[in-house]
Amino acid sequence: MEKGHYLRAVDKLTLNIPEGSVFGLLGPNGSGKSTTIRMLLGLSEPSSGGIQIFGGSAKDPAVRRRIGYLPDAPYYHKFLTGRELLRFFGRLLGIPKTDLERQSFALLSQFGLADAIDRKLGAYSKGMLQRLGFAQAMLGDPEILILDEPTAGVDPVGASEVGVFVRSLRERGKTVLLCSHLLTQVQGLCDAVGIMNRGRLLAAGSIETLLPGGGNSRLAIDGLTESDLNEIARLAESKGGRAFSIGDDLEDIFRKLVIADDKSGGAP
Ligand SMILES: Nc1ncnc2c1ncn2[C@@H]1O[C@H](COP(=O)(O)OP(=O)(O)OP(=O)(O)O)[C@@H](O)[C@H]1O
Ligand SMILES: [Mg+2]
Repeated sequence: MEKGHYLRAVDKLTLNIPEGSVFGLLGPNGSGKSTTIRMLLGLSEPSSGGIQIFGGSAKDPAVRRRIGYLPDAPYYHKFLTGRELLRFFGRLLGIPKTDLERQSFALLSQFGLADAIDRKLGAYSKGMLQRLGFAQAMLGDPEILILDEPTAGVDPVGASEVGVFVRSLRERGKTVLLCSHLLTQVQGLCDAVGIMNRGRLLAAGSIETLLPGGGNSRLAIDGLTESDLNEIARLAESKGGRAFSIGDDLEDIFRKLVIADDKSGGAP
């Protein structure tokens, strides 16, 4: 940045993420998601304001141990093996040696890396590195998982596995903060989302409150008359359901909010 110019990457952000829920932090590239996460983790300092997590700072090792973090672009030394990498991170978390060996093996197996446990990371594929990142984030069985674009560069099968994994976290009562550009997956996965643009929060809330029709699955039927439609609406009501005209999905809402905000102009 030139002298005298500065960028407000994140501005007046308040997020409410209930315990045990999956929260999707969404926004276009450069909107401030990863910066928000880095501040939450104490890796970047807000120029004003403060952040508390578990009533303290993530810089406190006792607090940090309770948070698992999958960074947006993890860099792992390619001469380390999978086992050595987990050993390194586990020691940072203060996990006792025998427990760490046991946990590392269990996590590498869980993420399909049992055969690659003693292979150098230079020989891991992108998908394998991503799964290693999950194993790393899960060390110490943290209560909060912060996943910054866990599906970036992952194939569709891998992406759906990520979805299954996040769901399993919720079932185990974990709290998940997820950044992702896969909005269809986010819509099915998250209890609530926040949409950021230019460092600010444009909208936040549960999928039900943000989406007309509550994000229910859609049924498209062609060639029906008005009275057929009325009949379907009555049938839906008699079954305790509701028929409604097809509205926006999360992707539509996201695009509308961001485009309108960009049009409103002004630097963040
Ligand atoms: N270390 C840094 N120094 C200077 N500017 C930065 C730094 N990190 C991020 N920024 C700027 O802060 C803004 C927010 O970036 P951030 O990485 O938080 O976006 P993001 O929402 O995570 O985007 P993406 O979807 O691309 O990951 C961007 O304008 C970026 O250029
Ligand atoms: Mg990012």
